[in-house]
Amino acid sequence: MSNKVVYVGMSADLVHPGHLNILKKAAEHGEVVVGLLTDKAIASYKRIPYMEFEQRKIIIENIKGVSRVVVQDTLDYVPNLIKLKPDYVVHGDDWREGVQRETRQRVIDTLAEWGGELIEVPYTAGISSTQLNKALREIGTTPDLRLKSLRRMLQVKPLLRFIDIHNALSGLIIENTKVETPEGIREFDGMWGSSLTDSTAKGKPDIEAVDVSARMNTLNEVLEVTTKPIVYDADTGGQSEHFEFTVRTLERLGVSAAIIEDKTGLKKNSLFGTDVPQTQDSIDNFCAKIMAGKKAQATDDFMIIARIESLILDQGMDDAVKRAQAYLNAGADGIMIHSRKKDPAEIFEFCDHYNKFLNRKPLVVVPSSYNSVTEAELQEKGANIVIYANQLLRSAYPAMLETAKSILTNQRSKECDDKMLPLKDILELIPGTK
Ligand code: SPV
Ligand code: MG
Repeated sequence: MSNKVVYVGMSADLVHPGHLNILKKAAEHGEVVVGLLTDKAIASYKRIPYMEFEQRKIIIENIKGVSRVVVQDTLDYVPNLIKLKPDYVVHGDDWREGVQRETRQRVIDTLAEWGGELIEVPYTAGISSTQLNKALREIGTTPDLRLKSLRRMLQVKPLLRFIDIHNALSGLIIENTKVETPEGIREFDGMWGSSLTDSTAKGKPDIEAVDVSARMNTLNEVLEVTTKPIVYDADTGGQSEHFEFTVRTLERLGVSAAIIEDKTGLKKNSLFGTDVPQTQDSIDNFCAKIMAGKKAQATDDFMIIARIESLILDQGMDDAVKRAQAYLNAGADGIMIHSRKKDPAEIFEFCDHYNKFLNRKPLVVVPSSYNSVTEAELQEKGANIVIYANQLLRSAYPAMLETAKSILTNQRSKECDDKMLPLKDILELIPGTK
């Protein structure tokens, strides 16, 4: 056996014959060192892996021909290559195109510094992790896995992107919509169980008039056809005694988090601000509710996030910051700060205070009114979850209204036909319809 060092970088989440083929080819050239990508490195360009790093490591270490496994902390191979100065890097030839193109070039340039060589193995036809991933999604998930997935994502991704659900179809859109970008495939990380859009879809006002059982029906519909994590808008949470039941129901369903807002009495939507009477709860009362919810939890993974309405109700920044500290001390797993201003200045100011907290936990923001802010800006300010709270329903409604008006105007549907999903496509939209 030669004493050459062969480096293979891999995610090895869904291990298939293609991976084994690469490792076999690598072993023909010398001692194989696998640079196993960390969960964070994988999440930087695609979905978080199903298996955690340690689980993936055990598998790869036990594959014939692998001498050792090292940590690869970034998608970029260069830091590890410089450390190990391998004679060869072996990789599938499928990275010549797409997000990994630049990574590949950097590997070639770096190896050239000591006369190393890149060996590319032809892509194994008929099997890929993308296909396996699709198949896994079709099988679905379990409540336990789904519940935990939010905490895992928060650990490995700087900013998570959520958007509203109000029925199963909106859930499917969130589950399946992807865009390709130079940095990799971009998709939504999870779903926001909005009280506004759920109530609106049911033709009811957003005043906790849709009871928890009806809200759970919507969740159930969505849970049945999706796998991504759900953050549930629990409004005020009701009485502490009632909130405890809600927490247990949500956990049983596999929902990852509930957000409760610090209002009391008849809840009105926050975006009305002070145009309608709205009362903020006392810090003590609300802390007691957070504590009751935390105590009711059956798992360690479920999260209770406290939503602060001080900026919505013009109570000032100091009040918002004071409440954030008190709620975290009471055991909240994160804070949501809301605003109805057109620009993000007050949110940014809050972030600056919040980032100084010693017991800082994830921060959730909802840029409905300050919608010019970018995800990059929010991330830079330290936000951990951005929620697009109502955009799916708000875009569906005008489209339906326009169709209804067009049919009334023209007394037939031909005029609006090109704005609609073709008949054939609606038949094929949901797998199994045929
Ligand atoms: C919701 O989506 O129901 C929310 C966010 O609570 S907001 O409507 O902005 O209050
Ligand atoms: Mg709401």
